[in-house]
Amino acid sequence: MWLMFPKQARYSGRVSAPLHSSHSPPSARLAETVKAVRGRTSFEPKVGLVLGSGLGAFADTLEGLVKIPYSELPHMHASAVVGHAGNLCFGHVGKVPVVCMQGRIHLYEGHSPEAVVHGARTMARLGVGAVLITNAAGGLEPSWEAGDLMLMTDHLNLTGTTPLLGPNDDALGPRFPDMSTAYDLELRAAARDVAAKAGITLREGIYAGLLGPSYETPAEVRMLGKLGAQAVGMSTVLETIALRHMKVRVGALSCITNLAAGISKTELDHAEVEETARRKRGDLVKLLGGWIEKAGA
Ligand code: HPA
Repeated sequence: MWLMFPKQARYSGRVSAPLHSSHSPPSARLAETVKAVRGRTSFEPKVGLVLGSGLGAFADTLEGLVKIPYSELPHMHASAVVGHAGNLCFGHVGKVPVVCMQGRIHLYEGHSPEAVVHGARTMARLGVGAVLITNAAGGLEPSWEAGDLMLMTDHLNLTGTTPLLGPNDDALGPRFPDMSTAYDLELRAAARDVAAKAGITLREGIYAGLLGPSYETPAEVRMLGKLGAQAVGMSTVLETIALRHMKVRVGALSCITNLAAGISKTELDHAEVEETARRKRGDLVKLLGGWIEKAGA
């Protein structure tokens, strides 16, 4: 029963502090958020979208746009980071009904893993079968350039945590979810197809998700390269875990806003990250638009 301490505490013979700040399971908080959304719109989305740093403008291209500020929804938090608006947006891309997170929160802002994935889980509960996640990332391949787009084929969760920490919420998914194909094969094929038809170069690679907020040291960047990653960022991996737990298909796209520390000849700063993401807006709108239509077909 949820109101009791986690079972593990009993095995150890000691009572440890509960792992959750609240005594209700995540699914109970989700129900409250979904109820509040349903009080505002009966829109039934098929595809979800998470828009990262500097990429939020895509939401404003949705047809028949309806925006609900996170501040008007229980358990949803707005990011304090520049480039992240805080709105849950509803509208169409072509014929596909879409729900979109315009801005996300991050672990490094001090939010719990559960809070970080609450928006993604809300979209899942609103009925989407697929979520397309975007992020800004540093590139680890010296031959790549700032502004390249990378389809995520897999990830390394190096945040040291998971949204599934603590007692399993059986209403969401199994205790030990499979992650063999975290980034859906069909969605990946669809993204390649859209990019090729639109004449957009699409890189592919593994994204290392770190806690941040400091950018990596050159030594860390060399380590990540040796671990097999092509990009590094501070988001996405927890959202993917939470969505796969709920059996939602995931596709993810990184905007390589800079080459990572030590590979880049210049110092890194967030203004550059935002500026590069903004510069790629045209390609992103094209790519995301086509991708959403395929994901919702
Ligand atoms: N490192 C981590 N996160 C990032 C970077 C980076 O170089 N660029 C954009 N997000």
